[in-house]
Amino acid sequence: MAKIISIANQKGGVGKTTTAINLSSLIAAAEKKILLIDIDPQANSSSGLNIFNQNPSVYEVLIGNEKIEDVIIDSYMPYLDILPSNINLVGAEIELVEMEDREKILDKVLQTIVNNYDYIIIDCPPSLGLLTLNSLTASDSVLIPVQCEYFALEGLGQLLNTINIVRQHLNPRLTIEGVLLTMFDTRLNLSHQVADEVRKYFGEKVYNTVINRNVRISESPSYGKPIILYDAISTGAKNYMALANELLERNSKEVEST
Ligand SMILES: Nc1ncnc2c1ncn2[C@@H]1O[C@H](COP(=O)(O)OP(=O)(O)OP(=O)(O)O)[C@@H](O)[C@H]1O
Ligand SMILES: [Mg+2]
Repeated sequence: MAKIISIANQKGGVGKTTTAINLSSLIAAAEKKILLIDIDPQANSSSGLNIFNQNPSVYEVLIGNEKIEDVIIDSYMPYLDILPSNINLVGAEIELVEMEDREKILDKVLQTIVNNYDYIIIDCPPSLGLLTLNSLTASDSVLIPVQCEYFALEGLGQLLNTINIVRQHLNPRLTIEGVLLTMFDTRLNLSHQVADEVRKYFGEKVYNTVINRNVRISESPSYGKPIILYDAISTGAKNYMALANELLERNSKEVEST
């Protein structure tokens, strides 16, 4: 049965999609069967893997017009499948409001395929609306990227509050997978300060791996490639490889201890 991980932070541009694409690709490279779900109307996880304007998309799955199995597509990487997004998903936030058990739609849909994968990673939009609520309700855990910038911690209280509400009312199994420091600039005092502050607040939950600011990472989506296929020896590729190893290792320990 797959472990389902949401990548969430309602703050925009903190590295959710970059992490979703690169982590998924590297988990696939480790020969774990993985499904990447793009649940953001911006569809950046889809386009970053060279998938454009897919129709049907996750939107039709959520409103019940298509079966998930018929919408999932193969990526060009073995072991990695994608449930793509499309700009139509913009309407879903409003349309889902009318539906019964509106926060549990994705959860129900995923039950039918959860046994086909080792991991399912969901790239959330930058909001705490119904799409993110559906993701959190369907997930075992949430990975929170935090950009090493001014106001990094701003809004995290609201995210943690939402996680607690989901735990209480919708999904008691939801845990924090980890907190990831992104766009770290070793030369900047500010980056170090933010990292210290985040570690003080989240302790062990913060990954030892830090993602440096690296121009190769920002270039790779325009080539439709994860960093490992775009520039395997870049700092960004090394960072994301270390993150994938750390995440897989943490999870194998959890399995052993249960
Ligand atoms: N480590 C990094 N080094 C340099 N640029 C990065 C890095 N991580 C992400 N970026 C760039 O920063 C921008 C925002 O990243 P990304 O799209 O992953 O954030 P996001 O949280 O998914 O944004 P949104 O909230 O809009 O969905 C992108 O242009 C991306 O290429
Ligand atoms: Mg994004």
